[in-house]
Amino acid sequence: MEFSGVDGFLGTRASIMLDVVFLAMFAVVPVMVASIALARYRNDFTWHKRIQLTLAIVLAVAVLAFEIDMRFFTNWAERAAPSPYFNSASKWTSPVGISLLVHLCFAIPTAFIWIYVVSGAIRHFPVPPTPNSYSARHKFWGRVAAIEMTMTAITGWVFYYLAFVA
Ligand code: HEM
Repeated sequence: MEFSGVDGFLGTRASIMLDVVFLAMFAVVPVMVASIALARYRNDFTWHKRIQLTLAIVLAVAVLAFEIDMRFFTNWAERAAPSPYFNSASKWTSPVGISLLVHLCFAIPTAFIWIYVVSGAIRHFPVPPTPNSYSARHKFWGRVAAIEMTMTAITGWVFYYLAFVA
């Protein structure tokens, strides 16, 4: 079938950026878990910082490219149309639409929480990073940020499957 935008490489109906982000999340979540484990069990805060900053930058670039793709090149609803879980007449009440709304309920807050956690950590921890009076706040919001990112990935995968695979 012919769709607007550039087709992806996974052989589904998704566009290239949908495929990139779908796959990238399989790397982002384990790398994030490993980085938190480095801080928690090895007290390696320098590598924790490096990895988290790298993840934040890579994600920011990916989100930007993804948004440009979705707003200007790819019509996701057109690509989702052949799915038995999609109904063009009632886009937002079909399983695909609902799964996208659920996904956005995680994805949008996650972006803001990550900005808050990264900027807070940079401003309040010394260089090189070591625990201090900011630790309790960072640990709390760092865990929230990690859980939100994991939920963003899971709900994103569900949407991808319902819209572009089924
Ligand atoms: C979104 C990015 C980040 C997330 C999700 C995150 C998450 C976490 C989490 C969950 C912990 C607690 C680990 C435990 O259970 O002991 C932690 C610890 C820590 N993080 Fe981050 N972190 C991020 C970015 C950063 C950055 C950029 C820095 C440095 C500037 C940093 C410095 C630290 C330090 C020093 C600790 C140890 C706190 C302590 O044990 O007292 N983190 N981080």
